[in-house]
Amino acid sequence: MAITSPLPNEKLDGELPANSSDEVIATAPKHIAVIMDGNGRWAKNKFMPRAFGHKAGVDALRRLVEAVPNFGIKTLSVYAFSTENWRRPTEEVEGLFALLKQFVKSDLARLKANNVKVIIQGRREGLSDEILKLIDIVQDETRNNDKLNLVICFNYGGQAEIIDATKKIATDVKNGNLQIENINENLFQDYLFNREIPNPDLIIRTAGEKRLSNFLLWQSAYSEFVFLDVLWPDFKENDLIIALEEYSSRKRRYGGL
Ligand code: FPP
Repeated sequence: MAITSPLPNEKLDGELPANSSDEVIATAPKHIAVIMDGNGRWAKNKFMPRAFGHKAGVDALRRLVEAVPNFGIKTLSVYAFSTENWRRPTEEVEGLFALLKQFVKSDLARLKANNVKVIIQGRREGLSDEILKLIDIVQDETRNNDKLNLVICFNYGGQAEIIDATKKIATDVKNGNLQIENINENLFQDYLFNREIPNPDLIIRTAGEKRLSNFLLWQSAYSEFVFLDVLWPDFKENDLIIALEEYSSRKRRYGGL
């Protein structure tokens, strides 16, 4: 594979097989989104509790946040806690909440130093005041950063997002602030959780499952999908390169010819 501008390729080329330099390279994706699956299986393989796998999953996320700007990627979205994850045992749910709190507290200084803008995307309802306050702090303190957008989907579900948008649209129509004829794809997108981030070019799912699991349903309409067998805590820069190589071989037509 070769990667065209705007990728700064020194690092990437250094990771590639020696014979790859003369192959055709595609443009790098601007926005990648990741379904970080396999924490539980990773922990089980080590005869450890699931929480151990989620903790290692945060370390894998930290590595990815450091790596992606070197590949010309401007936005990284990750699926950290879904609206369906409430069905897991209370202990595991609380563990995931504790990890978010810990991540925000312990990584805020480094995220700021690395010029990362953090966006937490999802329903606020159901989250504790303590978590909501931390979310507001991390978003507020990083809002002017512009090297990488890190979108952490937390208490997020694609169907919930579409329902919430529909309710807001219906309310605006009812109150006379919106005409039904003006509802179209662009307007609908403006009512979703986040209106400033472009849709993902590439969605990566680890741990072998080949489904979307209610992640970015609206936004993934024209995304490319890459499924990898690696369990999320084992995900390294080389796995990112494998996904980018696969992406570079795809032809994106957005419904055209
Ligand atoms: C799926 O693996 C993973 C999750 C439900 C949570 C992913 C969360 C993290 C990686 C850490 C959270 C990060 C922050 C910043 C809060 P699984 O547990 O379903 O794995 P399994 O399918 O092997 O059981």
